Amino acid sequence: MEKTFSIIKPNAVKKNVIGEVITCFETNGLKVVEAKYTTIPKAQCEEFYAEHSERPFFGELVEFMTSAPVMLMVLEGENAVMKNRELMGATNPAEAAEGTLRKRFGDSMGENAVHGSDSPTSAAREIKIFFG
Ligand code: CMP
Repeated sequence: MEKTFSIIKPNAVKKNVIGEVITCFETNGLKVVEAKYTTIPKAQCEEFYAEHSERPFFGELVEFMTSAPVMLMVLEGENAVMKNRELMGATNPAEAAEGTLRKRFGDSMGENAVHGSDSPTSAAREIKIFFG
């Protein structure tokens, strides 16, 4: 069993689709094993997105992700990292496949509804930041 880290972002929380997102995970073999409904502190968000700190969209990204509550989760399942990425779809909702979470609930590249770890190594780092 593998673990991955997931965030339901502020725009998706505002749309009241936490249940629909979790249902998507559960019906596709991913189990929620830790969860926290919270507003991310700015410093923690900057640490989380450190690899993007030089990108032009970094300020906007941190601003958005700390603007309102999110749902932080650890998901567990076979090939959880890849499975979650398939379910999310492409980073840009406009390019995401039909039926994926970002296609269904994303609004833009920045407000793309969900985050998921891109590798098991990232998952371990991200889980440590938010769940210790
Ligand atoms: P996420 O999976 O949370 O990881 C980094 C985030 O940065 C990504 O989803 C997008 O929401 C955001 N992002 C990536 N590229 C861009 C971009 N070109 N403009 C704005 N936001 C971006």
